[in-house]
Amino acid sequence: MGKKMSIYDEDNTVRTSKSEVNLEVASGDISNANAKNCAQFFPPGPQSLRPTELPAGHAIEKCTSRLIVSKLVNKRISKKLKDLYLKPTKENILFFLTTEDKGIIKELYSFAGKVREEHTGNFVHLRGLIEFSNYCFRSCHYCGLNKENKKVPRFRIPKETIVEIAIEAANNGYKTIVLQSGEDTFYSIEDYIYIIKSIKSKVDVAITLAIGEKTFEEYKILKENGADRYLLKHETSNADLYHKLNPGMSHKYRIDSLKELKRLGFQVGSGIMIGLPGQTVESIADDILLFKELDLDMIGCGPFISHEETPLAGSPSGNPELAFRVLAINRIITKNTNLPFTTALSVLTKEQKTSFTDPFFKGANVLMPKLTPLKYQKLYDIYPNDNRYDGNSKEFIKDMNKTLSVKGLKTSTSLGNRNR
Ligand code: 5AD
Repeated sequence: MGKKMSIYDEDNTVRTSKSEVNLEVASGDISNANAKNCAQFFPPGPQSLRPTELPAGHAIEKCTSRLIVSKLVNKRISKKLKDLYLKPTKENILFFLTTEDKGIIKELYSFAGKVREEHTGNFVHLRGLIEFSNYCFRSCHYCGLNKENKKVPRFRIPKETIVEIAIEAANNGYKTIVLQSGEDTFYSIEDYIYIIKSIKSKVDVAITLAIGEKTFEEYKILKENGADRYLLKHETSNADLYHKLNPGMSHKYRIDSLKELKRLGFQVGSGIMIGLPGQTVESIADDILLFKELDLDMIGCGPFISHEETPLAGSPSGNPELAFRVLAINRIITKNTNLPFTTALSVLTKEQKTSFTDPFFKGANVLMPKLTPLKYQKLYDIYPNDNRYDGNSKEFIKDMNKTLSVKGLKTSTSLGNRNR
């Protein structure tokens, strides 16, 4: 057999070729269908079928599961890892979060890398991040942008400049622009509409908003006016801990927002911090199960990093090793969700000289380079981070592409939506 082929074309649709077919796995029963018969459901021809376009319970899901199962068995993979893939339980997740067996941890990472390759190919999606305002009216105990921090000079990037940066990025090859800020009511919904429409009228990119909580009506207007994706991390599934760390905020509203955003047709991202004071591994296992239940399109998990100008000053930062395990488990359980190598994780692993490609072999498939003008990066002080670079510079992009390609990874040229 020749070179191994991924089932995915660049746009994440399933390839219709009859040649080697490793199919998308939905959960489902193991059927007795002959795996080879799967190919007949993908007739040759220009059009491609997405697994989700097939009626529920279609035979393809069944023979697909069978294929994957037989692959797992052939690899003599541990039963616990196989169960994590096919029917995750809290107990099993906890096992992988807490085991100290280095062999098992290695197996977990290596399998997560394979699942990533199988379900999303070798493509890395770049999400160009514009941190456009560090004003915030919230008082989150972990975040350096909390409104009580009087030491950080505040900035806002004018909306015309945001549009210029985004267009330059699109011309440099970015297919997604993430607009991120503190919760800042200075920008009106009309401002967001102006920004989204101005960018989209010039370039073909997906736009992700990470601007905090809005009303359901506002989410709707933003969607109707071209916003494609929304990031809203729920930070922890432990409602008591959430309320302690986020004064005046409602955990229920956060989760309801995620459900509403999904109902409105956004691609929805959430995530947690790992190692928050008061957080337990049980709670992290619940977070992972909640990610699955919410059927998220993106999950970003990074270690908590202690910041001096917050009520959590002096608390120990989270363990990056645990964050990597969460990444790997998320990949194995969710299969094709977009999983970034988060900036917080890169900050804490920098001293260990972790290459930025290493996380892709533990399950990640997304990078979020900063497009924020350098003079503002220092001020976007969520947590201590000295890593500054211009993600829009030709040099940066060239280096990044080169480093990825050396590892067999390709910068994606598609919008990088998750195929639901
Ligand atoms: N350490 C790590 N991540 C943090 N965030 C905020 N403060 C910190 C911190 N001290 C993350 C939160 C938030 C995102 C913008 O940054 O998950 O949602």
